Amino acid sequence: MIDESFHIPVLTEEVIDLLLVKKSGTFLDVTSGFGGHSAAILEELNGGSLIATDQDPEAIRFLKSKFKTEKRISIHQARFSELHKLFSANDFDGILADIGISSYQLDTAERGFSFMKDGPLDMRMNQNIGEDASSWLNNASEQEISNIIWKYGEEKKAKRIAKAIVEARKSFKIRTTKELAEIILEETPRRFNDKKHPATKTFQAIRIFINNELEELDLLLDFASKHLKIGGRTCIISFHSLEDRMVKRFFRDHSRRDPKLSKLPNLADDSSFKLVTKAIKPSENEMNINPRSRSATLRVIERIK
Ligand SMILES: C[S@@+](CC[C@H](N)C(=O)[O-])C[C@H]1O[C@@H](n2cnc3c(N)ncnc32)[C@H](O)[C@@H]1O
Repeated sequence: MIDESFHIPVLTEEVIDLLLVKKSGTFLDVTSGFGGHSAAILEELNGGSLIATDQDPEAIRFLKSKFKTEKRISIHQARFSELHKLFSANDFDGILADIGISSYQLDTAERGFSFMKDGPLDMRMNQNIGEDASSWLNNASEQEISNIIWKYGEEKKAKRIAKAIVEARKSFKIRTTKELAEIILEETPRRFNDKKHPATKTFQAIRIFINNELEELDLLLDFASKHLKIGGRTCIISFHSLEDRMVKRFFRDHSRRDPKLSKLPNLADDSSFKLVTKAIKPSENEMNINPRSRSATLRVIERIK
């Protein structure tokens, strides 16, 4: 049984304010998760409707039960990379993505995302597809492991950690989150002034790799840029700098004149989008109530023609 208190949606007021410009419109929440933002959208709609998607089958089961009497929502299991296929004929007044993992996924030991809870080293957001983290970690080369930890975790000690993983797996198969966390802790012990657990970046990197998160985000941005109505908005909340950098660049490049043409005189700005606001961070108050919101950044773009 999923407990709803697991997940407190972030930046909800700001999202509602910036996304729901037309309350009679059609909206798409592509990371509906535990339905926090979806519920807030439904509450504000006036004649509009919502399509809610997520790739996690457990989230979909939960959403179908949470919204079982709600006629204005339709719920589908889908990855970002499947949106083009599913909604090729739809355009939206607003698209919302609150990317990353949910608190439920992080806090459920069996999902294998957390070094704080011992569980099978899985890390797949959809456990029905793809290779889990344990299988990858026990078969990948040291160089590959090091590259992933460096690229997706921006972990300076990536080489040392990869070497320690490969050394450890000579004596046992790494199957649990605790085993992996202990290998990392032994190689890079926690110092008294460390704010973060030494395994934080490695766990993040493996999770991003296993779920193909950056490629998925790229496809989502492409989908959103092609499926907004004029006046429609896309709101994206991201939780780490790799994702936020991608969103920032994509929004910037789509909301300014083609740099190759910018030197030509008297040329009208031909961009189809405008940035609605600067990046938005949660208020101090929200961060105090929900410390996990601390690393969230919201960016918003609008289609203007
Ligand atoms: C931070 S949670 C969203 C929580 C949600 N906004 C709420 O209020 O309950 C992120 C969700 O995005 C989903 N997700 C992440 N990457 C995805 C992808 N590539 N395709 C579809 N869903 C994805 C995860 O399964 C997770 O449920």
